[in-house]
Amino acid sequence: MATDAVRRPGVWAAIDERFGLSDLAYSVPRHANTLPFSLGGISMVSLLILVLSGIVLTQFYHPMPEFANDSVRTMMPQFGLARLARGIHYWAAQVFLVTVLLHMIRIFLTASFKRPREANWVAGVLLLGISVALYFTGTVLKWDQEGFEALEHNLAIGHLLGGLWHWFAPSFSQAAPLLLRLYIAHIVVLPSAIFFVLIVHFWLIKKHGISPIPGNDGGEMLRFTSHLAHLAMYVAVLAGFILILTVLLPPVIGPAPVEGIEVTKPPWPFLPLFAVENWVGVPGLLWVSLAAFVMLALVPLLDRSPHTRPLQRRAALALGAVVVLTLVGLALLAWITKGAEHLGWLLSIWA
Ligand code: HEM
Repeated sequence: MATDAVRRPGVWAAIDERFGLSDLAYSVPRHANTLPFSLGGISMVSLLILVLSGIVLTQFYHPMPEFANDSVRTMMPQFGLARLARGIHYWAAQVFLVTVLLHMIRIFLTASFKRPREANWVAGVLLLGISVALYFTGTVLKWDQEGFEALEHNLAIGHLLGGLWHWFAPSFSQAAPLLLRLYIAHIVVLPSAIFFVLIVHFWLIKKHGISPIPGNDGGEMLRFTSHLAHLAMYVAVLAGFILILTVLLPPVIGPAPVEGIEVTKPPWPFLPLFAVENWVGVPGLLWVSLAAFVMLALVPLLDRSPHTRPLQRRAALALGAVVVLTLVGLALLAWITKGAEHLGWLLSIWA
């Protein structure tokens, strides 16, 4: 150790000797710097922005039902730290979810879920589930009509889940209202879960390396540290984009909710489910969502051939395109239809 330090004197050598930072200079393929292969990294940075802006938001938000809506509304009138944090948090959440979805589509298109990366695909499906749960609980927290109706769906689905209903039930705890418990899920339970699964995700990426471009094994390599530097460029553009949106399009908040009415539509990630619910009701919604997640997790089993080139995977790619087009079609359908009452009979169970 001592001889090493003598051979490479200087501040960097001293830091490196203690923290082993030069271990980060391992090789990754050059195509890791392209935008499609950087989408996972961009999602990761958006998640870090979400955590930081979320910590600031906790200083202004009140998680009790009597005060929640007011505490969000008072953040908005003049431009200050609270409004800045809320805008950044809202827009970073949109960027996060969009880039996670695009990252998943990229992995499907380049067949990067195939052997030996099947386990990492399943870890990814878990990450997607936790991301959706984070988005959902975040929507409830603002406690306006949209958030309240989202919670009513949460209650209805919890009821259908039988035993799990107990945790969702307002009666689970006399001292801590459901909104407060969802807040804790949003700021502690789900972020801990996502970071735990991310450790597994990154460990598996390091173990298997970044997948090749289909049909183009090998090729030039670069250091992971240069990849991080390149990623920083995408992140600078992303940060500017989020700030511009924060200033020009601050997130909205409606008045405090009115119980027993259904007038809103869900935020965009849930629009396809809204259309499904209009046809098959809340039970159908639960089973369709569960089936979709199970099918997604089974993708590596369903598409097991060793082929990775698009021309050899015509059927899988066509099926993927049908799924994406169906989701977009359902979202558009929900977007043009009116908010309808679909919770009716289930709400009456606990009214
Ligand atoms: C919190 C959300 C997520 C984050 C932060 C994340 C992050 C990353 C990063 C940084 C990479 C390496 C670079 C890249 O390929 O872009 C990666 C690779 C990978 N991710 Fe994710 N990911 C997330 C969600 C997902 C989802 C939803 C799936 C699929 C269902 C998934 C499956 C994979 C697979 C299979 C790889 C290996 C790809 C390869 O070797 O080319 N990830 N992820």
